[in-house]
Amino acid sequence: MSTASRPRLTLPADLLPADGRFGSGPSKVRPEQVDALLRAGRTVLGTSHRQAPVRDLVRRVREGLTRLFSLPPGYEVVLGNGGSTAFWDVATLCLVRERSQHLVLGEFSAKFAQAVAAAPFLAEPVLVGAEPGTLPRLGDVAAGVDVVAWPHNETSTGVVAPVVRPATTGAEAPLVLVDGTSAAGGVLVDVAQTDAYYFAPQKSFAADGGLWIALLSPAALARVAELRATSRWVPASLDLAIAVENSAKDQTYNTPAVATLVMLADQVDWLLARGGLSWAAARTAESAAVVYDWALARAWAAPFVAEEAARSPVVATVDLDPAVDAVAVQDVLRDNGIVDVFPYRSLGRNQLRIGLFPAVDPRDVRALTACVDHVVEALREG
Ligand SMILES: Cc1ncc(COP(=O)(O)O)c(C=O)c1O
Repeated sequence: MSTASRPRLTLPADLLPADGRFGSGPSKVRPEQVDALLRAGRTVLGTSHRQAPVRDLVRRVREGLTRLFSLPPGYEVVLGNGGSTAFWDVATLCLVRERSQHLVLGEFSAKFAQAVAAAPFLAEPVLVGAEPGTLPRLGDVAAGVDVVAWPHNETSTGVVAPVVRPATTGAEAPLVLVDGTSAAGGVLVDVAQTDAYYFAPQKSFAADGGLWIALLSPAALARVAELRATSRWVPASLDLAIAVENSAKDQTYNTPAVATLVMLADQVDWLLARGGLSWAAARTAESAAVVYDWALARAWAAPFVAEEAARSPVVATVDLDPAVDAVAVQDVLRDNGIVDVFPYRSLGRNQLRIGLFPAVDPRDVRALTACVDHVVEALREG
C-alpha cells in the first residue's frame, strides 16, 4: 500500500510519549543539552580548539569518561575525528600487527572485519559468524591472531555480547577490541576486559556523531608504539600515536565539532550525577523489560533475538507478524511525532527497532508500546 493511499490516523494525545525520539543513533538529545549548547554559544563555540575553553571541555569529557567507566590504572581516554567507522581504519593500521579474529553478528561487526580484510599488509582475518539475531561464540583464538574483536552491542540486530577476555594459552594474549558504539554509557562493562573499548557519541551520549573515543589499555598503547616503529605507512589523520599525543594535551589532531563535545560533556555529567553507569544500565534494563515483556504478551509480536541473555537493553528489536505491516505502523507513528523505530535497512525484516538509550524515559517507552497497540488495532479494523 502506498503512503498516499494509507488512511491517516491521529493517536489520542494522552497515549503519546512526552518525547517521540526512539532512534538507534543518532538518538534523543535531551533539551538540557541544547540549553548547554546555547550557553556555550556565547563562550566556547566559535573559539580555537587549541586554547583553554575547548581544551577544558575536552578535559571535562576525558575526566568524566574516566570516572564513568572506572578506568583501570594506565588506561587512556583517546579521541579523534571520524566516528567509529574511522576508528576501524585506525585500529586496522595501528593495532592489528598481523592477523585479527572477529565475531561477525551483523552489519557493524562485518564492516570492521571488511576493513581489516582489505588491508594489503595484514593476513586474512579469522571470521566467526552467525545468523543475524543470534550471538556467535568466539571459540578458540586461532594461531597467529594478535587482535580479537567484537561489538558489545550489534546495533543492526539488537544483540548484546558479553565483554570477557578469551582464555588463551601461549606466549602473548591478543588485544581485545570491543566496539561499544551503541552499548557504551548504557550497558555495564568492565573495561579491564578490553584493550580498546571504543565508541562514538551519538547513542547513549546523546550528542552528534563525528568523533571516536577509545579507552586504551597499556597493552594497546604499547602496540601503538610498537607498530609506529615499523615501516608501515599510516596517514596522519588515522595515526593512533598522533591521537594519543594530542589527547594527552586535551585536544584532537585536527579541528573537532565543538558542539558535539559540548553535548557529550553535558551527557557524561548528567549520567555521573545520577549514579553513573550502574544507574544508566538499570534505566535501560527497565526500558528493555517494558518492550520485551510487551512483545511477548502480543500474539502478533515477538523479540527478534531468541536467546534471552543476548537481547539488547539499548536497541530492542521486535518482529511483527506478517499480517501487521511494520512500515504502515512506522508511518502512522511518524505522523504522530514518534520517529525512527525502523529496522536496520539491510536486515529486511518486518520489524520495529527501538533505541532505549539512557536519555529515553522508560515512561515514554511504555507510552510507545501503548501507541503501537493502538495503531495495530486501528490498521486491522481498516
Ligand atoms: C555498533 C556500531 N559500530 C559502529 C558504528 C559506526 O559509527 P559511526 O557512524 O560513528 O562511524 C555504528 C553506527 O551506528 C554502530 O552502531
